[in-house]
Amino acid sequence: MFKAPRGTVDLLPQEQRYWRYAEQAAAGVCRRFGYQRLDTPTFEASGLFVRGVGEQTDIVQKEMYAFEDRGGDLVTLRPEGTAPACRAYLEHGMSSLPQPVRLYYFCPIFRYERPQAGRYREHHQFGVEAIGDGDPAIDAEVIQLGWSYARELGLGKLSLVVNSIGDPACRPGYLQALKEYYGAYLPHLCQDCRGRYERNPLRLLDCKQERCQPFIASAPRSSDYLCDACKEHWRRLLAYLDLLSIPYTTSHRLVRGLDYYTRTVFEIQPPDEGGQSTLLGGGRYDGLVQELGGPPTPGIGFGSGFERMVLNLKRQEVRVPEVLPRPVVIVHSGPQALEYGLGIAARLRKESLTVIVAPAQRSLRAQMRYASSVNARYAVVVGETEVRQRTGSVRDMDNASQEEAPEADLAAYLVAKVGLEQAG
Ligand code: HAM
Repeated sequence: MFKAPRGTVDLLPQEQRYWRYAEQAAAGVCRRFGYQRLDTPTFEASGLFVRGVGEQTDIVQKEMYAFEDRGGDLVTLRPEGTAPACRAYLEHGMSSLPQPVRLYYFCPIFRYERPQAGRYREHHQFGVEAIGDGDPAIDAEVIQLGWSYARELGLGKLSLVVNSIGDPACRPGYLQALKEYYGAYLPHLCQDCRGRYERNPLRLLDCKQERCQPFIASAPRSSDYLCDACKEHWRRLLAYLDLLSIPYTTSHRLVRGLDYYTRTVFEIQPPDEGGQSTLLGGGRYDGLVQELGGPPTPGIGFGSGFERMVLNLKRQEVRVPEVLPRPVVIVHSGPQALEYGLGIAARLRKESLTVIVAPAQRSLRAQMRYASSVNARYAVVVGETEVRQRTGSVRDMDNASQEEAPEADLAAYLVAKVGLEQAG
C-alpha cells in the first residue's frame, strides 16, 4: 500500500474548515491593509535560492528539493517565498509602481527537514512582502498585519518578539565581537555550534542545546552594536509599536535562519514552546533585491505556517465554523420520484442551498437513515403522491415535523427557513 511521503499530510475534509478559516482571516487582513495577492511557480531556478537565501543557510545546505530537469536545468521546489516574490518584483518591473508594492501569497513550501510535530517536509505558508520602502513605519505595518492576523484567528497568549540584527555597515563589528566572545568557550559548545562559529556565527544565538544556553545568555547583543542609522530605525520601530499598542518583547537571541535579513527581525510564538513552534516569522531584507541583480531596494515581510496555526487553533479549542452547511437531502421512492427529485435538487441548488440526493435503490427508511447520517437539516420527501400533485414534503430532521409545499414554492420555503437559522 502506498502512503503519503514522510513529512507530508493529507488534508481530509474534516480538516478543511480550519484551513479555510485561517485563509479567510489572512485574506481579510490583507485586504484591509491593501495587500494584493501574488502567485509564483512551485519551482524556480536553484540559483535564485542559493543567491537569495544564502549558501550557508540550513535551507540551501541540506533542505532543498533540488534536481536537474530533463532539459538539464537545475530547479528547486520553493523552500521559501521571499526570493520568488523579489524575483517577480524585478521581472515584472514593479519598481515603476507606487512603492512599496504590497503583496501576499498562500503557497506550499518544501524543505527536507526531520519531520516532527509542527514540522513538515511540505508545509503551507501565508506570507506578505512590502517591497520598496525602507522606513520603519512599514516594519510596524507588517508586524501589525501579522499580529492582527494571529489575534483575529482567536488565538490567545501569543508573544511577539523583535530584534535588530543591524546592516552591512554594523553587522561585521557585531559578528567580530560575537566570535571573540565565543572563541574562549569553543571546547564547551555543542558540535553544531562549533560549525556555526566558523560558517554563520549569528546562528550561535539560535542553538537549542542545553549546554549552549549559558553562553547565549551572556553573549554580546546586536542592539548594542548598531550603527547610528540602524539605531534610529530600531528606536522608531519600537516607538511605532508602542503607539499602536502592540505588545512585544525584545530578544537578542532572535536571529532567524535566512541570510537575507537586515535590521528588523520578528516572530510570533505560541505559549510555552521553543523556537521550532514559531507561528509567524519575518524581517527586513534590504539587500535581497540587489543580490538578485536589481537596484538597491528595501523590503520587509513575514511567513506563517498554516499547519502550525491550525495546530494551535485546535490546542486552544478555538471555535471554527463548518465549511459546509447542514444539507437538504432529497428522499425519493421509485424511479419517477427520483427523476422528480433530481429536478427539485437542481432548483434548490440554484438558490444556493446545499443539496444531496439520497442513494437510489434503497427503501425510504434506509434513505431517511442516510439523511440522518449526513446530518441533514431538512429532508424533502417525494413519492408517488408528491409527483402526482407536484409537491414535496419537507421534514425538519431536528424535530421530525413535516410540512407539505407546492413544488414551485419549495425553494423559497427552504431558503426562508435556512436563512432564518443562519441569521440567528
Ligand atoms: P521561516 O521562518 O523559514 O521564514 O518560515 C516562516 C514560517 O513558516 C515559520 O514561522 C513557521 O510557521 C512555518 N514553517 C517553517 N518551516 C516549517 C516546517 N518545516 N513545517 C511547518 N511549518 C514551517 C521564511 O520562510 C521567510 N520567507 C519569511 C519571510 C517573508 N521573511 C520575510 N518575508
